[in-house]
Amino acid sequence: MKALIWCSPNNVKVKQVPDPQILDPRDAIIRITSTAICGSDLHLVHGFVPFMKPGDILGHEPMGIVEEVGDGVDKSRVNVGDRVVVPFTIGCGACFYCKRQLWSCCDNSNPKPHIGEKMYGYATAGIFGYSHLTGGYAGGQAEYLRVPYADVNCQKIPEDLTDHQALFLSDIFPTGYMAAEQCDIKPDDTVAIWGCGPVGQFTIRSAVMLGARQVVAIDDGRRVPERLEMARQGGAITIDMSEESVYERLLDLTGGIGPDVCIDAVGMEAHGATYLDGAYDRIKTALFMENDRPNAFRQAVHCCRKGGTVSVPGVYGGFDDKIPLGAIMNKGLTIKTGQTHVQRYVGPLLERIRKGEIDPSFVVTHRVPLSEAADAYRLFETRKDGCIKVVLDPAA
Ligand SMILES: NC(=O)c1ccc[n+]([C@@H]2O[C@H](COP(=O)([O-])OP(=O)(O)OC[C@H]3O[C@@H](n4cnc5c(N)ncnc54)[C@H](O)[C@@H]3O)[C@@H](O)[C@H]2O)c1
Ligand SMILES: [Zn+2]
Ligand SMILES: [Zn+2]
Repeated sequence: MKALIWCSPNNVKVKQVPDPQILDPRDAIIRITSTAICGSDLHLVHGFVPFMKPGDILGHEPMGIVEEVGDGVDKSRVNVGDRVVVPFTIGCGACFYCKRQLWSCCDNSNPKPHIGEKMYGYATAGIFGYSHLTGGYAGGQAEYLRVPYADVNCQKIPEDLTDHQALFLSDIFPTGYMAAEQCDIKPDDTVAIWGCGPVGQFTIRSAVMLGARQVVAIDDGRRVPERLEMARQGGAITIDMSEESVYERLLDLTGGIGPDVCIDAVGMEAHGATYLDGAYDRIKTALFMENDRPNAFRQAVHCCRKGGTVSVPGVYGGFDDKIPLGAIMNKGLTIKTGQTHVQRYVGPLLERIRKGEIDPSFVVTHRVPLSEAADAYRLFETRKDGCIKVVLDPAA
């Protein structure tokens, strides 16, 4: 089959690779009909996650048709011919964590726990196409995908929704939703969101759906004016960080107290070289003396009102400098974060799509053949041609 392969940092290619096989009786094989590129994939491509191996297949936002199921799969839950979305977090459905709906913490789905134990104390769940830290699973930017614990992870999708309406239940819609939901938003709250990428866009719409009085979205208008425009269409007031002081503007919008909720939807590759700490991160990460560039996180902490909540859907990988623990502690902030517990949200968010509360296809700016995926990565990372979200089509 064709698949998008990580070859080395900043080098991905579409290549011919062996088709996946059923390896365990609980596996299913899916023929992919649509599969997206995520901001998280860029972290892997840019070499920020050091546990990739040449030949790894990328991709964790897939959907398609079940082609084959193992003997141990509960066929009343998933069977050949079903149309399914596959959450990026692989759950077993039976462990301490899965039973508590903490799917991204599954204790059984990561077959290489020693790396996670060394890094974090305990290994996280397996994730498709997301390095050997999360199990080394082949990803979904391919014609076919092997899905473990298929009757737990394959999420059946009704026929009347298009691929673009359903696909983002695999990751970015639940991710944006969890980022907002875990902040317990009150009706008079101001929610400020750093980053208007695909995750930021779903965070904005989720904060609006959850009843925030005011949603403010922040990004760089010189680089990505179309993302700020899409944020406004979603109901946000926007701040262009290239033109105005984010802190001052947020004070203006909140009667001088700061936002109740601040959400970092940027993650480990924040720009911000115009800020002193941003330049510091650039140098330290280039010298491998710091793992991430947590510039947006620091700003979110700085801007958050006393007693507020900072939520972090943005991905961080390792050990970072100048984390403002003093501000977090003395302002009494609550920090919420995590890889998304996707399976927890698929049902409720599917319901919202069916009721017409949101049509997730708004975020798609490009649909391209899988064979052109390497060019699509370049388009997405350079933000050229108004690129916000790319969907790859293996059948084209
Ligand atoms: N928690 C999860 O489970 C989960 C799931 C999916 C994605 N993510 C993470 O969410 C983050 C965003 O993903 P995406 O697909 O939207 O990525 P993206 O790269 O398309 O978007 C990031 C946006 O942040 C903006 N930005 C950069 N620095 C900024 C700053 N200092 N202030 C404000 N904006 C800034 C960029 O201009 C860009 O528009 C990534 O870190 C990704 O890995 C997390
Ligand atoms: Zn993702
Ligand atoms: Zn589990």
